[in-house]
Amino acid sequence: MDIQTILIRNGQNKLLERMKKLNENERKELTAQLESVDWETIQLWKKPFDEIQKGEIKPIEGLKLRDIAAKKEEFLRAGVSAVKAGKVAAVLLAGGMGTRLGSDMPKGAYNIGVTKPLYIFEQLIRNLQVVCNDCDAVVPLYIMTSEQNDKTTRTFFNEHNYFGYPKDSVRFFMQETAACVDFEGNLLFESGNRLALSPNGNGGWYSSMERAGLVDEAKKKGVEWFNVFAVDNVLQHIADPAFVGAAILNGTASAAKVVCKANPHEKVGVLCLEDGLPSVIEYYELSEEMANLRAKNGELLYTYGVILNYLFRLDKLEQIAKQKIPVHVVKKKITHVDENGNVVKPETENGYKFETLILDMIRLMGSCLPYEVVREKEFAPIKNQTGVDSVDTARVLLQKNGVEL
Ligand code: UTP
Repeated sequence: MDIQTILIRNGQNKLLERMKKLNENERKELTAQLESVDWETIQLWKKPFDEIQKGEIKPIEGLKLRDIAAKKEEFLRAGVSAVKAGKVAAVLLAGGMGTRLGSDMPKGAYNIGVTKPLYIFEQLIRNLQVVCNDCDAVVPLYIMTSEQNDKTTRTFFNEHNYFGYPKDSVRFFMQETAACVDFEGNLLFESGNRLALSPNGNGGWYSSMERAGLVDEAKKKGVEWFNVFAVDNVLQHIADPAFVGAAILNGTASAAKVVCKANPHEKVGVLCLEDGLPSVIEYYELSEEMANLRAKNGELLYTYGVILNYLFRLDKLEQIAKQKIPVHVVKKKITHVDENGNVVKPETENGYKFETLILDMIRLMGSCLPYEVVREKEFAPIKNQTGVDSVDTARVLLQKNGVEL
């Protein structure tokens, strides 16, 4: 089917009008981009809030702090030996746009220091370095970037000499991008003849890593587990040996660091079982009754809030690699160039992006071990400049944990 017909079928009349104003070369370039657009995904804009049907939800068994304390030595032995043997790699998800934080630089390059610079990437490297020192090993680090921030991220690491981390143990790979649309489904533009593309969500980390040849590389090195984590939690422990050991000894294909919900209504995705398989459900998907269910000892039954720090076993990832995960349609502020050539930097959400999410991979993994951590010691996410989950709250938590700012 020719591109003209595809555009008509997909209601891209505005785009067709734009095309008429382009010269031949510009039109060729745009056509090449349009040929790689996933129209099936784009059509999802018509039903953005269709909830994905959920199966039967039940609580999942996990390890609470007391269970972990009772087996700490055992977990540590197994985990330290895996880290020492090079079986654990770390995967830093740094492809997001960090729009809420509002910096033009990659989120990891944000300076959270007060009296001296302390960059988010720097703090994460420090956290990883603790494990390397404790285990006398170097954990391979894979960093996912996006087309938008790849160059700046690499340059930033170079300029800071990788914050002392062994450079040859760090690899970067770029995630894929997806087109985005306004609220009427019109594709948005970055310039006169270039589509506005944005990172396609953190759910594509494995396929992007594979495409970059890095899964093979990791496998050859003997890696068996990937510890995948978000860029914004500056307190998290990375490649945490006790966590790794717990996953190994429990025989699960994945594991998730979790914090127990502070109250039934806390707005956090909860790990549970859906039709017998591990699944993360959003707080608004839990009924009032379920959110309030408690065990005999008074603890909430749906309590394991995920903090985007997961372990994935490589052999299982290879099995599920070809399976599809759902695409989420997300309302965002999207900077673009309108049909008159004006740059539009919206103050409020103006369109939809299409993203897959890492939490949807948990279900495909077949099994997942919730592993509780102490919130004040391991969870300081930075999403905003101020207010909830912000630079301000993270600074307070870092200081409480002895980090000098
Ligand atoms: P968030 O959901 O916080 O998204 O990402 P974000 O893009 O960083 O921030 P906002 O929503 O625009 O303010 C959670 C983690 O997933 C990564 C982020 O870098 C962060 O570590 N991520 C997100 C990607 O790597 N790629 C993506 O496409 C989206």
